[in-house]
Amino acid sequence: MKKKLDETQIRHQLLNPEKYTFIILDEVTSTNDIAKANFKDEHQYLICLAEKQTNGQGRLGRTFISNESVGIYMSLIFKPNNSIKSYKNITTYIATCVAKSLEDVLNLKINIKWVNDIYLNGKKIGGILTTGETNVTTLKYNYLIIGIGINIYKQKFEENIKNIASSIEEETNKIIDRNYLIALILNQIGDNLDMINNNHMNFYRERLLMKNKQVLLKYAYEEEIVQIIDVDDEGRLIVKKDNIIKKVNSGEITRMIVKNA
Ligand code: BTN
Repeated sequence: MKKKLDETQIRHQLLNPEKYTFIILDEVTSTNDIAKANFKDEHQYLICLAEKQTNGQGRLGRTFISNESVGIYMSLIFKPNNSIKSYKNITTYIATCVAKSLEDVLNLKINIKWVNDIYLNGKKIGGILTTGETNVTTLKYNYLIIGIGINIYKQKFEENIKNIASSIEEETNKIIDRNYLIALILNQIGDNLDMINNNHMNFYRERLLMKNKQVLLKYAYEEEIVQIIDVDDEGRLIVKKDNIIKKVNSGEITRMIVKNA
């Protein structure tokens, strides 16, 4: 049965419910907006969830399609205590937590497209967007928002993304309880994001999509064809071009290059 988002049901399944405050709404522009507008000093983790987003945000200014009651649209906001550099691997950490939770529920292998895309059966079923506000005096974040979007139930995707995007139900025919999965993900993330390290990177690397493949890698103003080698412990993509290995901090793998024989 497909149930509505429900704070009580999520709370019942949390390991440390007292650490979380929830805001659950029917329709929002973006749960990130709600998180930012409502975050207060007394919150350890404020979790904002919505049945629908009218302006769901993805990486690189893109839209994250957030149809009504068919996905998890969740933002977790917190105040980091450590210096900015302590959180540079947070997106790979969250991607790992989401992948682990999905693997537990589905008993299937999840893949991760560097750096933040969650894939099942070669289709994108979710993504993670980490945003923050930097305090230039303290060199700390005023806050960090972790936005997690997962396509759970069947839905109609627009023509331009229907070959890339899918949902868990579409791929597996399973009807997952969103409240259960939300609790599982929050438990997996844990209640001390100030203490993340690189221990998750082996799990992340084992699920890396397009490893050893030639891909088109897009940067802000240019693009190049490279071979994906791996991801290092700091979450940087290791690529090879003209026999030279280099590490890339940001950019986007847009597609695999298939050479004709
Ligand atoms: C991506 O695929 O590029 C990242 C998608 C992140 C989507 C989530 S849904 C909850 C939160 N609110 C948003 O507007 N975006 C994130």
